[in-house]
Amino acid sequence: MTTKVPRARLDSARIHSETSPTVRDALILQVLESVSSTNDAVLELWAENPGALLVACTADEQTAGRGRLDRTWMSPFGAGVALSLAFPAKAIAHVPTLIPLHFGVLVAQVLEACGAPVRLKWPNDIVMTSETGEIRKLGGILATKNADIVVVGIGLNFSLERPELPTETASSLSLEGFTVSREEFIGRILSATSELLRAESTDDAWLADYVNLCSTLEREVMVHPADGVAFKALATGIDEHGGLVILREGSQEIVTVGDIVHLR
Ligand code: BTN
Repeated sequence: MTTKVPRARLDSARIHSETSPTVRDALILQVLESVSSTNDAVLELWAENPGALLVACTADEQTAGRGRLDRTWMSPFGAGVALSLAFPAKAIAHVPTLIPLHFGVLVAQVLEACGAPVRLKWPNDIVMTSETGEIRKLGGILATKNADIVVVGIGLNFSLERPELPTETASSLSLEGFTVSREEFIGRILSATSELLRAESTDDAWLADYVNLCSTLEREVMVHPADGVAFKALATGIDEHGGLVILREGSQEIVTVGDIVHLR
């Protein structure tokens, strides 16, 4: 008989100790055991803390997590990170479509610093390439920006086991051979976010990092537009709004929404 060791709860004190001292003073962080979606909880926290620079909510489990294109996002207890950040819209100059790409870069840089080198798949997937060359999705980012507020939701599979994964192409850091502390990851992301917001930077140098990390570029892809028929194309670049530049039968087009499947 095999007995499963229960998964541990997030350690709030450890998250705080992993953040840099400057963010610790300005941060409002809620660590929950279970919630429908941290994206909803962070909005409530935001409303209770007017004027905050950075508000964040994380939970061990989400019961109704949301993904891109109205999909569900699975967050079984203690097995991943579900983290939502809320900050004033005026703190970041980016157009809304650039925000998930920039946070993709931050997530990849933080995971690299934690010893897990990941790549990105356009627009907002965190991926690794398996030994057989297949792209495995480990996580994703969902961001919204309105006149007042930006909400960034980060979902990442840390120790999900194969039967817990939603699709065959999904994976977790542990299945790919990486052990990363959830608290260290969250602490570092909070610090990186706070640095980004304090810099009030309008430069787009980070876009070059996105291009370097993006596994979609220079590949043949199948484009599944949100409202149309799938077609093959070559992914060649990222435009200034975060759109995917493709060559379709010799003509350049920009894909702004939809799913991309890497062909080779
Ligand atoms: C995707 O579809 O790839 C994006 C997934 C984003 C999931 C995160 S988990 C934290 C936050 N809360 C949610 O309900 N969704 C985002």
